[in-house]
Amino acid sequence: MELSKQEFDLLRKYIHDICGLAISENKSYLIRQRLEPLAMRAGCKTFSQFHQLIQQNALPKVQEHIINAITTNETAFFRDGHPFEAFKAYILPKLGKMIRDRKARVTPRKGPKVRLWSAGASSGQEAYSLSMLIHEHVAANRHLLMSDADFGILATDISSQMLSKALAGEYTDAEIRRGISPDRLTRYFKKERAHWTISSTIRSMVEFRQVNLIRPFVMLGGFDVIFCRNVLIYFDLDTKTRIISQFFNMLSDEGFLILGATENVYGITDKFDSVYHGPTLFYRKQQTCGVLKLKNS
Ligand SMILES: C[S@@+](CC[C@H](N)C(=O)[O-])C[C@H]1O[C@@H](n2cnc3c(N)ncnc32)[C@H](O)[C@@H]1O
Repeated sequence: MELSKQEFDLLRKYIHDICGLAISENKSYLIRQRLEPLAMRAGCKTFSQFHQLIQQNALPKVQEHIINAITTNETAFFRDGHPFEAFKAYILPKLGKMIRDRKARVTPRKGPKVRLWSAGASSGQEAYSLSMLIHEHVAANRHLLMSDADFGILATDISSQMLSKALAGEYTDAEIRRGISPDRLTRYFKKERAHWTISSTIRSMVEFRQVNLIRPFVMLGGFDVIFCRNVLIYFDLDTKTRIISQFFNMLSDEGFLILGATENVYGITDKFDSVYHGPTLFYRKQQTCGVLKLKNS
């Protein structure tokens, strides 16, 4: 199906409005390839017809189908390796200390004592990598009297398709080969027909929710660790700024923000300190800067 410049502009504006993805001028093929099957299924002969039906709300769940089709959901267990090594070696012991301090309070809060968030979690591998590391850390440090339940992990994505897959916790051989060691495969996965199912111990440590990062999300509460890796690259500066300012306000004073290898807060805010652990860059709140407000809010 042909995609004229005008159709491209209408559809990419619609996509930007519903999920924030900024599709550049030279990426018309993305819309053509990913939306053509949806347009054809709706009986459209042109993208203009498709856009018209979208505007008229004439297609059930079309927004959800478009989001599922247009988002890029590339992920892997322990993706890039070193951020997870740094999480294990540097952040986990600090979370252990936070847990002990918070339990020692006169009125300790109920439920998890520290909260982690995988924002833009795709099919769950990032969140499950964290829960495996936490489970192993707890088991290796019995004397510290922590339990898996002291760690609350929230994993969110905009794609309903990815969230269903994450919730099912079922992965193909190829997905397992990307990051799961033979030892972890034996411990945490069971082969069921064509896929590997993650153990209920690891799965039950993660709560999955649908969250659109371009809408306000501070109501999710406070976090001690936010992983938002390989998500901001798809957004324009305004959207990134709104997201980062909410992360800042939600992060505890001792918390950690971890972005993807090609992402940073440069040009967005100078209210974070950069901390390197080996090749891994974390952001931590500067202790004197209070609440980060958007210029025009
Ligand atoms: C490339 S994946 C990254 C997955 C994982 N964080 C990693 O690094 O392996 C990007 C994810 O961001 C999600 N995403 C895109 N736009 C979003 C939005 N507006 N709100 C929430 N998630 C979004 C996509 O659905 C996709 O699953």
